[in-house]
Amino acid sequence: MFRKTPAATIAALVLQLALPAQAQAQAQPDPVARGRYLVEGIAGCGNCHTPKGPQGDLPGMNMAGGAVFDEPPFRAVASNITPDPETGIGRWTDAEVARAIREGIRPDGRIIGPPMPIELYRGISDADLAAMVAYLRTVPAVRNAVEPSVYRMPLPPSYGPPVANVARPADDPVARGAYLAGPLGHCTECHTPMREGGQRDWPRLGAGGQQFPGPWGVSVARNITPHREAGIGGWTDAQILRAVTEGVSADGRRMFPPMGYGYYARMTPRDLADLVAWLRSIPALP
Ligand code: HEC
Ligand code: HEC
Repeated sequence: MFRKTPAATIAALVLQLALPAQAQAQAQPDPVARGRYLVEGIAGCGNCHTPKGPQGDLPGMNMAGGAVFDEPPFRAVASNITPDPETGIGRWTDAEVARAIREGIRPDGRIIGPPMPIELYRGISDADLAAMVAYLRTVPAVRNAVEPSVYRMPLPPSYGPPVANVARPADDPVARGAYLAGPLGHCTECHTPMREGGQRDWPRLGAGGQQFPGPWGVSVARNITPHREAGIGGWTDAQILRAVTEGVSADGRRMFPPMGYGYYARMTPRDLADLVAWLRSIPALP
């Protein structure tokens, strides 16, 4: 019997054995490509780290820093995170860049202050963090010395204990959507109200209310819970996606910054669908 095994059967068997490896390669794309997708897309690092003019991103300044966040408790200046060795992060090791992003601690031990959402970045998976670092290595180095930030409030000594390992989210639309809306896209950072003392009121996740002053006036983060009157429970999926990716509200009104619509527009259809699945799943709040 054994000697009579037709070649075709063996070929089929070999193909079957090869398949899992192929599927794995698809699930783990090239880290630089994945990193670009995250940094230039859902994570929108450039929304803060790429300086803007009236026409949008200043040309040739991708991730070169300098944007100022002027608020009562601080005057924060976005860092140059290009690989320039003098004014950027070119001399940092991969592990040092990774620690800065996920734990908010620089190589010299200084803490990174707000508004960078480190609290949420602590949940970035190991694979995605490595991908972000790999991509940041490939952006053109830009020589641009930025002023230091000034914090008129105490910064915490750390954002928590060291983060050892973070797994990918479970392969389920709501779990993937929660990961996109939290650690990667930080929707929850802006759309969750603040308590007195500057802490987020997490039990009111998605209820909105934070104010964002800027050249556009003051925009107020909306209630994005499924509440039918106060939130977006009455919106269709298409209306939600138009708001997130194009900045056009359900009633056709053009929405204001600082939400990074153009970055979210680069998300894959699957990630956008998972984001909507998560938005539909959170508790409806008035
Ligand atoms: C909401 C605005 C905001 C977002 C979003 C943001 N950052 Fe930052 N980031 C800042 C500011 C402001 C600083 C400087 C803070 C300070 O001086 O303590 C900073 C500092 C850093 C530093 C430290 C650099 C240095 O030279 O000290 C790194 C690295 C960094 N950011 C990477 C990233 C990456 C990667 C992303 C996206 C995953 C990101 N940031 C998203 C605002 C932001
Ligand atoms: C930097 C802060 C910020 C981040 C991050 C952010 N948003 Fe927003 N969002 C706002 C603000 C401010 C508005 C109100 C804009 C306006 O009314 O002109 C808004 C409006 C919206 C609206 C329209 C709601 C309505 O009733 O008009 C939706 C939906 C929305 N955001 C969903 C999201 C999702 C999903 C994410 C993450 C992928 C996200 N936002 C990330 C600040 C933010």
